Order: sequence, then C-alpha cells, then structure tokens
Amino acid sequence: MPSFIETQFPIARLSAESYKERKANNGQTLTRLGKWWGRKPLVLVRASILGMLMPASNDAKKDREVFLKILTMDDDGTWQRCKGDIPAAAWREAASMEVQEEFFGARGFKQGLSDEEKEALFVQIWAALSLEQQHALDAQRMRPIPNRSEFEALSYAERLVHCERPENIEGPTGAAWGDINAHLGTTATCLSDLVEQLGQRTFGHTPRVGDSFCGGGSIPFEAARIGCNAFGSDLNPVAGLLTWASLNLLGGGKGVQEEVMLVQANVLATADQQVTAWGIEHNAQGERADAYLYCVEVKPEGCDYFIPLAPSWLIGEKSKVIARWTRLPGSERLQPEIAVVSDSELKLYKDKLGATVGDNRVIDPFDASRTWSVEALRGSDGLRRWTNSDIVPRSGDVFQERLYCIRWVKTVIRNGKPKEIRRYAAPNADDLAREENVQALLHKHFDEWQSEGFIPSRVIPENGEKTEEPIRNRGWTHWHHLFTPRQLLIHGLLAEISSKLAKSKAAKVACLLGLGRMSDWNSRLSAWMYHAGNEKGNQVFYNQALNCHFNYAARALSKLGDTFSILADASECTFGQRGKLTQIDARDLRDTCDIWITDPPYADAINYHELGDYFLAWYDKQLTKYFPEWTPDARAELAVRGNGDDFRRSMVEIYRNLANHMPGNGLQMVMFTHQDPSVWADLGMILWAAGLKATAAWTISTETEAVGIKKGNYVQGTVCLVLRKRTNNEPGFLDEVYPLVEDEVKRQITSMQALDEGGEPNFNDADYQLAAYAAALKVLTQYGNLDGKDVEHEVFAVRGKGEISDFQTVIERALGIACDTLIPRGLDDSWRDLTLVERYYLRSLDIESRGERRKGMYEELARGFGVTDIKPLLKSDKANGTRMFTPTGLAASVLGQVAGTQASNAGLPAARGRAAASGPHPFASVPLRHLMFAVRETAAADNSPEPGRQYLRDTFGQGYWGKRESFVNLLEWLAALGNAEGMNEWITDSEAARMLAGRLRNDHA
Ligand SMILES: C[S@@+](CC[C@H](N)C(=O)[O-])C[C@H]1O[C@@H](n2cnc3c(N)ncnc32)[C@H](O)[C@@H]1O
Repeated sequence: MPSFIETQFPIARLSAESYKERKANNGQTLTRLGKWWGRKPLVLVRASILGMLMPASNDAKKDREVFLKILTMDDDGTWQRCKGDIPAAAWREAASMEVQEEFFGARGFKQGLSDEEKEALFVQIWAALSLEQQHALDAQRMRPIPNRSEFEALSYAERLVHCERPENIEGPTGAAWGDINAHLGTTATCLSDLVEQLGQRTFGHTPRVGDSFCGGGSIPFEAARIGCNAFGSDLNPVAGLLTWASLNLLGGGKGVQEEVMLVQANVLATADQQVTAWGIEHNAQGERADAYLYCVEVKPEGCDYFIPLAPSWLIGEKSKVIARWTRLPGSERLQPEIAVVSDSELKLYKDKLGATVGDNRVIDPFDASRTWSVEALRGSDGLRRWTNSDIVPRSGDVFQERLYCIRWVKTVIRNGKPKEIRRYAAPNADDLAREENVQALLHKHFDEWQSEGFIPSRVIPENGEKTEEPIRNRGWTHWHHLFTPRQLLIHGLLAEISSKLAKSKAAKVACLLGLGRMSDWNSRLSAWMYHAGNEKGNQVFYNQALNCHFNYAARALSKLGDTFSILADASECTFGQRGKLTQIDARDLRDTCDIWITDPPYADAINYHELGDYFLAWYDKQLTKYFPEWTPDARAELAVRGNGDDFRRSMVEIYRNLANHMPGNGLQMVMFTHQDPSVWADLGMILWAAGLKATAAWTISTETEAVGIKKGNYVQGTVCLVLRKRTNNEPGFLDEVYPLVEDEVKRQITSMQALDEGGEPNFNDADYQLAAYAAALKVLTQYGNLDGKDVEHEVFAVRGKGEISDFQTVIERALGIACDTLIPRGLDDSWRDLTLVERYYLRSLDIESRGERRKGMYEELARGFGVTDIKPLLKSDKANGTRMFTPTGLAASVLGQVAGTQASNAGLPAARGRAAASGPHPFASVPLRHLMFAVRETAAADNSPEPGRQYLRDTFGQGYWGKRESFVNLLEWLAALGNAEGMNEWITDSEAARMLAGRLRNDHA
C-alpha cells in the first residue's frame, strides 16, 4: 500500500508554512543553538515523516483533508492557530525597565527596529518572566481578524501571517482527532500516539527515523519530538554537537533546561565580577563600555601618515554619529574625532563622505585624488604570516589595527526611573592604557588557555576555498587571529569559568555552544553596522564566507550575555531519550532505520568542513572530553562535495549503505535544494544505482515571499524525492519503457490537476515538470538494468560533449510528454494543430503570465518541445527576469515565408531581421508568427484591424479560410494576456488582438 506522500503532498500550504518558519529568524526553534548552514524547516520534516507513515486510501480528497488536520493546516487548524500577536504595549509592560528604556517609546517600539530585532526582543522579555507572567502576557493576544469567515476568505499564505506555527500549539483539537482516527482506524489523542500506532502497523514497532547528514539536527530533532525513535549522524563534529544539543537540551525537558540556564547565568555573573575587578570595561566617569570599534590602518608608499580604513565613517545613523580624522603636527598617526552631526551632514557621510577605502583602493582622507591599490599594498610576496603568539599586528606589518571609538553606557535616574545614556567617544589615554592592560592580561593566560582549549590554538587550513581569505588578506594563520585581544580575553574567561561551574554534560555542551555563538557575533570578522536600530557588530556568518572587513566591532561582556545564553525558555517537553547520535562518515553507518530522511550536500557551494572549523577551533579540546568517542576533526577528505565523479561515487556508496540498513518496506526521502530542476535527474540516477526506486517527488518552495508564493524571482525549491528499496532487479527494455513512462506522466499530471481544482493552485509549472521527471524515474528505477546496461556503469560512463545516456533520454522524453499534456487553459481546441515551436511560444507566454521569470524554466520548456534556439524569442534572458517578446516587440524580426504556401506574401515587410541573415528560425514561418505580425500591424494602425486582416489574407492565400477559426481562438487567448498581473507590456497588443479577432470572426469570402 502506498503512503500518503507517494500519492500527494500539500505543497502550496507547506511552502507557505516553511517560509513562515524561515522568516521567524531568531524565533526558529533550533537556530539559537548555533550556526549551521542549509537547515531544513521543521514543518517540512514533520510533514514528510507523517506523510511517509500515513497510508493512502482510495479516497484522495479525504486523505488530504485528514493529513491537513494532523498538521493543523486545515481550516479549523489555521483558525485555532490564529491567536494574534501580543500587542506592543503588553510587551512593553512585561519588559524590564532597562529594556523599556532602550527599545520602547510611549506608543510602542522605537522606530527603526527590524523584525528580527523585535523577535529577539520578544525572546528576551519572555525568558525573563515567570510561568504565571508568561500566561498573563499570552492571554493578551488579540485575534487580528475576529471574524472566522473573513479569515477564511484570505489566501492560505495571508492567513498564516496571523497564525502561530504548528509546532507552537498543542496540536489537533479533540474533534480533529475524532476525524483523523475515524479515517485512519487509530485511537490517537496526540501526535506521538499517532506516530506510534502507524509505526506499529507498518513496521511492528515505534518507527525509527534516521538522517546520516544531520547537520543542525532538524530531522532527528523533529522525528523525536513527534514520537519517533530518532537517529542522527554527521561527519562534522560541530554538526554533531548541534544535533546533540537539539535532542538533549531542547528535548531534555524542564529540569535540564533550568539547570543549564542557571549555570550559564552563574558563569556570566562570575565573569562580570572578574571583568569589573580587572577594570577593563569601566572608566572613571562611572560609565561602562558596550562596544569597541576598531579599524585597519595602512601607510602606503609616498604617504607620510597612517590612513585608518573604513568604507564609511558613519558610526550611527540613529544617533547621528560620525568619525573624522585630523592630522596632529609631528605625528604619523591621525587623530579621530567622534561627532554628532546634522541630518544634512549625516547624509553626506551616508554617501561615503571621507571614506578611506572604496573599490579596493585606499583613499587619502585629505586628498581623495590620491589612492593606492589594496592588492598592491600586500606586496608581491604577500603579507607576513602571523605566528601563534601574535595577537595584534607587529609594528612592521602592512595592516595595523587601532581602536577609534568606544560606546559608553551609564544608567541615570530620570523622573524616578532608571535611564540608560549612551555616548560614542574617541579613546583617550586611559582607554588606550586599558587596551594595553587587556593585552597584558591575555598574555598572562594565553599559554594555559590554549593548552586547556579555552581559546583556539588550531592552524587555519591552507588552500581552502573559504579559509584562504583570512590567510591571504590579513596574514592570519591561526583561528585565534580572527579575534581581537579583548575578544579572546572575554571568551577565554567565560570558557575557563564554564569549565569550573558546568558539571553536567548538558551544561558543559550549552556553555560550549554559547562560546560558539559568541564567536559568530564577536570577532574581527564582525563588521560594524551603522544602520538605524542596528548600531552593532554583525554576525560573521551572515553569509557563507570568512570575509575580512576594514572596520569591525568588539562587544563588551555586558553585550554578550544574551549571545552566550543559548536557551531562552524552559519547555516541558522531554523527548531527547528517543534520539541517538553518532559522528560518522555516512559510508560507515551500521544503524538500521525504517525511514531515512537525508539532505546531502548536493552540488551546493557550502563548504561545511571549512566553515565548521571556525567553531571547532573553540570546541575541539572540550569535545574530546565530553564526547571521547568522536573525532574532533572535520575530516575534509571524507566530506561529500562538488558534483563530479568522486561525488557520485561517494553518493552511490552512501545510499547503497542506507538502503542496506532499512527494512524491505522502509522508505527514504532525499531532500535537496537547487534552482535548476534538471540537476536532480542526475541525483535520480545516483539513487537508482544505489538500489533504490523512486516513488514520488515534490518541490517545496522554502525561500519565497509568503504572499504571491512561487510568483516572484529567486524561487528556491527543496525537492523531496521519495524512494523505496528495489527488491527485484528485473531487466527493462527501452521500447517497453516509453509507453509506460507516457502513461505514468499523464496519470501523475492528471492526479495533480484534480487536486488543483477550485481553491488555490497547489502546483506550478515547475512542479508539473518535476512530476514528469519523477514519473519517468518511477518507471525506470523499478528495473535492475535497461536494455542490458548496468545502471551503475551508466552513471559513471565517460561521454562525449552533448552525448546523453539512454536513461537521460527517457527522462527528457518524459518532459516532452508533460509539456504536451499541459495545455494552456483556453487553447485546447487549437493545440493539436500547432507545431512544437508554436506550442513552446504559447506555453512560455502562459508561464510568463503566471509570474514565472526564471530562465531555467523557459529552457526546460524548450527541451520539452525540442526547440533548440530560444534567444530570438526572448525579450529578456536574465536569469531571474526572463520574458518573451510581444508581437510589437518582435516587430519584423524572425519572420519568413510560410512553409509550403504558394501565397504571394505580398504583405511581408522587406526587412526580415536576423532570421533572413542567418537562416530562418523555425518560428519565422509558422502561422502563429504571422498572426503575431498581424497583431502588430493592427496595433500600429491604432487598432484598425484592416491591415492585419489583409496581411493574413495575403500571406496565407486560400489557406486563410481554413485557419480562420484557429486564428480567432489564438487571438482571443492573446487578448486575455494583458489582463494578467505583471503583463502590462501586453496591454496594447492584447487590445489589438481583441480587435483583430472581432474582424476575423466576421470575415467573409
Ligand atoms: C545539507 S547539510 C544537512 C543539513 C541538515 N539537514 C539540517 O537541517 O541542518 C549536509 C551535511 O552533510 C554532512 N556531510 C558531508 N559529508 C558527509 C559524509 N561523508 N558523511 C556524513 N555527513 C557528511 C555535512 O557536514 C553537512 O552537515
């Protein structure tokens, strides 16, 4: 019996839910534990597991209804989740005085706070409340749309704006469970009951769900949370640590979480006492620093002073603070002046007034016409490589470092209330002395802290794609070089205190992850951000690189508490005991799972092993103590990466291993994210060679705007390929396979269309195309070989340029069948008589009118219709802005003699554009092309249809009468295009098409 996901999947709703989860930024459940790249949305994991456990019945509609109920994604569920927001005034009331002063005004939030910052603030306020206070705050939510029918009139994505995520509510209501149980024959009252009962039915035990590439832990975490026995493993120990924490800290229950929060609070308090005693953050005026701004300085040839570097000297857009530089007589060091300026001057600084670096050139602050290439400054031999003991540049180094600004904070009492006053200032002699003291203190602890692993001691691997950047650009050779002495001192101190105060494994891991988070937010790679509401240092991994900046910020301890504390809220849930974790190469796994859900590093650009080393440098020595069975190394040589033969070989090996470690009725899902739908055909072959057969494929858009989902640019779909073990290896024959593929493609598309009827469309063009591939794979992968050719051999066969395998041919043929099955609405009558290139043109217009702009999709269609050259038909071929020509846009280009006509073609214009010069394009001679020319003639004649009609009669002669009816049909279709959203360019031509259609309809011989 197939599982639900092998027959259907609510992909439009899931896309909207995944997007909502992604948008929550800090509010996402796992991200607070630490940075990992390519995390999968938990809601998608939940739906996938349930979709694989739930059997499909003969009633697809009922299956869908019940499945949505389980996920609280049906009408009742979304209404239940529509709790509304807690009003800003209530948040303000619940917040501490300090937070109120900093973030709230009289009427709500202060201006300029980003959504992300608000989200972080909510987490912070919530965490500081007792359980009763939390309940009281929660009770103040207000349903923004009190009327249910009004709510249900919204599109699904619009509804979600007002909804909690499914993971944040109790689950289906009692009534919903009644319906679910009646349909499935279960007796569940919660998700874990259902999982248990469905697992027992299929596998005879609680289902075991595993992920051999578990990364940040989404899959094992969600599996355990909904009641499965979960297994996770990853090659990278940093990923292992994150997954361990997801299961054992977030899933550890209230007791564990409270202990962890207490230990982390004590560590921070102890560190605070030490920092205060050291006197490194306080000044004589009773102020405490919370941010230190540093910049790189250089002394280029011919310049007799050091130039401090920054792409902008704006310090705070909101506080209106800038830095400017003056020369001191007799000194080769410039003097910073930190000033509050007028709005007009601020604007000049925003426009880079005084910037001393731009376009990779150093600019003289006193004579902008004097510039030096940064590259040339590095010299032909490159920079001096720092040694382990270097913590700041040596005096002869090209790139020096200096502190140029400090932000001071003081709490005063105003109107009986405490108020935080902030000011930015250039460092004075005392401040510089404190900097010296920081270095002296660090020197004192340096050796011991390195040997204990409280600060990093590892070397940065050379020749890495990402790791080479700090080596080349700054001469930094060790990971600790990426931190200022102040950062190393504070982080090292917290690490040392943690080692004393954290006794349980949970607390130790939490403190380690806290350090990891601090290193992500407090490093020489943390660029200073001046934007309103954002005057702070940026996250290192705001992208997937190790970018060196010219000015950056160090946070004082007082600003690191929130970063170090990785748990915001104690939750009752305890499910960690259902999870098991190992750190192992996926080739060597020996654990058996009923369901494998994996998200391999497929042809993507993320260098997990290199980026992970940034954190591993902070963890390695403690990791060996807490997880002696793990290897504290990324083992780059074993990491799956790239997309060449080595990659294929490791993937076949890994998936064969997984197939060997699942029961005969087990299931797998392979997820991967890629913009080009065709690349997954390659993955399909790999999985086939590994002994698996495909049973379904769905794409979930995880990165699009919720409203107008799948319409805009940059749609990023996560393809979820469902597979089973191939238990028999019967031979297949190409000539038998084709008709089966044809049937399967049609069946798949028809069943998807049936689910689309009424309501919001569930699938878009890319989904249909993907379904065609999946259908072909479904048929193909049932066989052990094809025409006697071994699959594995085919995967690795060396081919000439442009040569494709038989397997690939079948897959492409499936695309052709899909293209032909999907007829644009309103063109059914004419479709049969159109040539392939005409069909291509109309289908392309059809997808354009539905907002599709990705070039890859137009190319996919071209492959499906066998059109080899689409360039002359495209008005724009931008990667995410592809559009077809309108009739007027095509003008007289790509226009030629009608094939096989004896007509005079008197109406053809003399100039035929590039078609005439370089051989006619197949589109040039088809009737649709001439019809479009007639539309253009009509538009040019102020919508008088006469010239257009005449052109057609001249062009087609007697043939005109036989074509007239189909012309009218096509013209009416073109006439509707101008009404579609985003098709403004068509308005004129669509009107002309309407006029011409009217004239042709009434034409008589
Ligand atoms: C796309 S990520 C997985 C992300 C994960 N699904 C999540 O939601 O966070 C791929 C993972 O594969 C891991 N990896 C790479 N090569 C591996 C191998 N040979 N064995 C096991 N894991 C490997 C990487 O360390 C990385 O964490």
